[in-house]
Amino acid sequence: MVISARKGDLTQQSCEMLVVNIFFGAKGLRGATGTVNGALRGDLEKFMKEDSFKAKLGATFLMRTNGKIPAKRVLVVGLGKKEEFDLEAVRQAAAASLNVAKGLGVKSVVSILHGAEAGGLKASECAQAMVEGVRLAQYNFDKYRSSKKEKSEVQRFDIVSHQGQDVRQATLGVLLGERMARGTLFARDLVNTPAQDMYPEKLVETAKQIVKGKGSLRIRVHDRFTLTRMGAGGLLGVAKGSDHPPYLVHMVYKPKKATKKRVAIVGKAVTFDSGGLSLKPADSMMTMKCDMAGAAAVLGVFSVIADMAPACEVHGIFGAVENMPSGKAIRPGDVLTVMNKKTIEVLNTDAEGRLTLADTLTYANKQKPQAIIDLATLTGACMVALGEEITGLMSNNDELSSKLLEASASVGEKMWRLPLEKNYRKLLKSEVADMQNIGARWGGALTAGLFLEEFVDKTPWAHLDIAGPAYAEREIDPYTRKGATGHGVRTLLSYLKSL
Ligand code: BES
Ligand code: ZN
Ligand code: ZN
Repeated sequence: MVISARKGDLTQQSCEMLVVNIFFGAKGLRGATGTVNGALRGDLEKFMKEDSFKAKLGATFLMRTNGKIPAKRVLVVGLGKKEEFDLEAVRQAAAASLNVAKGLGVKSVVSILHGAEAGGLKASECAQAMVEGVRLAQYNFDKYRSSKKEKSEVQRFDIVSHQGQDVRQATLGVLLGERMARGTLFARDLVNTPAQDMYPEKLVETAKQIVKGKGSLRIRVHDRFTLTRMGAGGLLGVAKGSDHPPYLVHMVYKPKKATKKRVAIVGKAVTFDSGGLSLKPADSMMTMKCDMAGAAAVLGVFSVIADMAPACEVHGIFGAVENMPSGKAIRPGDVLTVMNKKTIEVLNTDAEGRLTLADTLTYANKQKPQAIIDLATLTGACMVALGEEITGLMSNNDELSSKLLEASASVGEKMWRLPLEKNYRKLLKSEVADMQNIGARWGGALTAGLFLEEFVDKTPWAHLDIAGPAYAEREIDPYTRKGATGHGVRTLLSYLKSL
């Protein structure tokens, strides 16, 4: 599918489907939608009234034009209430129109630029959001199907406006939207791939592939030997039960122009989480190929970072392991010494993410970044607190927090800050070691966050618990269907771009 922005008259577009829009409860059709209605001699408004179409966000109304204009069909997409309108509504409206086109087997779509005219949003940002919505809605993971769903795909999606200024802005937005979507889809593919084919070595290979041929990217891979030398007892410990050896991957993006700004993004990379000897029940294990979604987000970012070319230096770090039970596996009660020399009593081998992050965060901190952001499918407790659609953000720094919340809001990835309550630190005290790897019954997302805080010293740091949003167990919105979501990639890219 080719997406473009161009100047044109909507009533003169030969295409299979022309997309216009309307706000919920709007009286009469105005702007571009009004123009199209005029060319259809009022039919659009008449039929919508007859079917009492309500313009709820993402709702659609389709009619054939019967030769009154060159476009074969007109689709009206609901923008929802005007007072609730934002870029996320634009993203969803565009996605909803793509979904209708897909269902009909339509090949060419022309759409108005949602949001720029009546919505009062910036043309570039609207176009970016539209591209994100359309590309993410188009996504489909069929690598493992014997017969690919051959529903003819949409070939062209043109965003058309009669205003030259909007078109110039929209063209920039399309480019940015394409990169945002490409990074997100890259992450989705990695997470959707079954753990039989996405084991630690494969993540290493993927990282090497990304870096290859890109002058601004470098990579270092630490294997079992160097991990032992570095004292990475967390990664080595969790990997003990698996036939796959552990790796620590360190990618670096250095912009052409020298910069003093340096950020580390760290991802949890447990390629499968069986729970280890503290084995998970069968139902909870079904989606555990998603436990490397944090690293997938980091790789998604790196897959487009050289093209996006932010001004800051970025370090992408993850420690890849598989958490399996076996005669060699770590046992509840075992004590591990991690990279910063702290000892940890492992009371539950299913709280493995924080053991791997103890090492990777220590390693990240050694790179002396001005900020560390980690993404991890860390706790079921965070899902209890915030549900399946919202990431829990924990941070030792208000400025970094607000920047991340702002970035996440701009791309429609929902996040909510949770406290690092220091009174709960006592819950991690061990009888035999410096710390234990589980807290008490309540507040599991927070004790996990407090555990991680021990490995970043005073460096501004934010922890994103993406256990809920990383993997959709049902359809979330018009561009997020069941399966991997790629959550976090667009927030990170938008944050890095803002530095
Ligand atoms: N990978 C899981 C967390 C998870 C749960 C991610 C559901 C995605 C969906 C993590 O390693 C884990 O098992 N956490 C335990 C911690 C507990 C043993 C303290 C949990 O949340 O139950
Ligand atoms: Zn676990
Ligand atoms: Zn896990």
